[in-house]
Amino acid sequence: MKIEHNVSLKPYNTFGIDVVAKHFVTISTLEDLKAVLELESYPKKLILGGGSNILLIKAVDALVILIRIKGISIISKTEDTVLVKANAGENWHEFVLWTLSQDFGGLENMSLIPGNVGTSPIQNIGAYGVELKDTFESCEAINLATKSITTFKKEECEFGYRNSIFKQHAKGQYIITSVTFKLTTKNHILHTNYGAITAELNARQITSPTIQDVSNAIIAIRQSKLPDPKKIGNSGSFFKNPVVDKAVYLHILNQFPDVPSYPVSETQVKIPAGWLIEKAGFKGKRLGNYGVHKNQALVLVNYGGATGTEILRLSEIIQATIQRIFNISIESEVNIL
Ligand code: EPU
Repeated sequence: MKIEHNVSLKPYNTFGIDVVAKHFVTISTLEDLKAVLELESYPKKLILGGGSNILLIKAVDALVILIRIKGISIISKTEDTVLVKANAGENWHEFVLWTLSQDFGGLENMSLIPGNVGTSPIQNIGAYGVELKDTFESCEAINLATKSITTFKKEECEFGYRNSIFKQHAKGQYIITSVTFKLTTKNHILHTNYGAITAELNARQITSPTIQDVSNAIIAIRQSKLPDPKKIGNSGSFFKNPVVDKAVYLHILNQFPDVPSYPVSETQVKIPAGWLIEKAGFKGKRLGNYGVHKNQALVLVNYGGATGTEILRLSEIIQATIQRIFNISIESEVNIL
C-alpha cells in the first residue's frame, strides 16, 4: 500500500476530467482498506470505485482511496439458483460476462454498464427493464465510524429508481466491500419486452434467446446509442428521468403528441429526460470540446480537455431550459464533486 501525492485523476473517472488528488492510494485487500481508514494523518478521505458516476469540478483536497479489491466466489447453490459474491473492485461488465460464462442468469440486461460492483447498489443501477435490486441478495460494507463490517439485506437498502439508503440517510457512512447476487442456474427469466431488445433480437433472427443472446443484443444497443467512455468521456445518463404529475404530462402531450411516458402511479408518469433535452434542441450540440451526445441527449460528453465546471455549466443551462419550456425540473444523476 503506497500513498502517492498530486496524482491526476484523469484515468480514474469516465468523464476523463483532469484534476489532481492531493493524496492517492490504491487498495486491493480488506486489511489494507481497514488500515488506511485508521490513518489519522489524512482526515479527509474520498472513496472512488469505477469513477463512472462522478463529475470532478475541482482538485480533490483529500486522500483518494481507489477500491480495487477483487474476487468472485460461489457462496451456495440450490436446485435452480446460486448465490454469487463479488468483491467491490470487480469491474461490473467483466463480472456480468463471468456470470454468463457460468450460465448464471439475471444480470444480462445490465451488460456493459460502466463502473464497479461495489458502487452498483448505491444508485441501484439499471437498464432495459432490469435493476440491480432484482438480483441483489445482500452487501457487506465497512462502517466508517466503527470500522466494523455490516451486512445489508435487500429490504434494508431501501432501493428505488437510481436510489438507495447509501444515497440517502447512510450517505458517506459506509464503504461497500462486496455484493452478493441471487442468480438462476436454469429456467432463466428473460426480460426482452423492452422495444429495442425485441427489435435487435428480431434483426438477429433469434426467436428463443439465451441469456447470452440477450446480453449480446444489449451490448449492440448500448454501443449504438451510448458513447464508449474509453473513446469519449462521459458518465452515462447525466440526469434522472423526471416523474411528473399527470396534468403536466397531459399539457405536454397536447403540444407534442409523440411524447414518450411510463406510468408510475394513478397520478404520476415518468418522462424520458433525453426526449425533453432533444426537444429543447440540445441533442448533438457541441461547445468546443464538450457537449451533448448526438445519439442520446441524456448523455453529456467530454471530447477531451473539457473541465468539470464547463460540463456542470452546460448541465445547468439544460436544466434551466427544460424548466422554462416544460415547467419540469430535471435532477442530476451524477455526483458533482
Ligand atoms: N429519447 C429521445 N431522445 C434522446 C434520448 C431518448 O427522444 O436523445 C427517447 C427515446 O426515443 C425513448 C425514450 O426517450 O422513447 C427512452 O430512451 P432510452 O430507451 O434510450 O432510455 P432512457 O430513459 O433515455 C434509461 C436509463 C439508461 C438506460 C436506458 C435503457 C436513466 C436516467 N437512464 O435511459 O441508463 O441504459 O434507460 O434502459 O434512467 C445510465 O443510468 O447511465 C443509463 C445509461
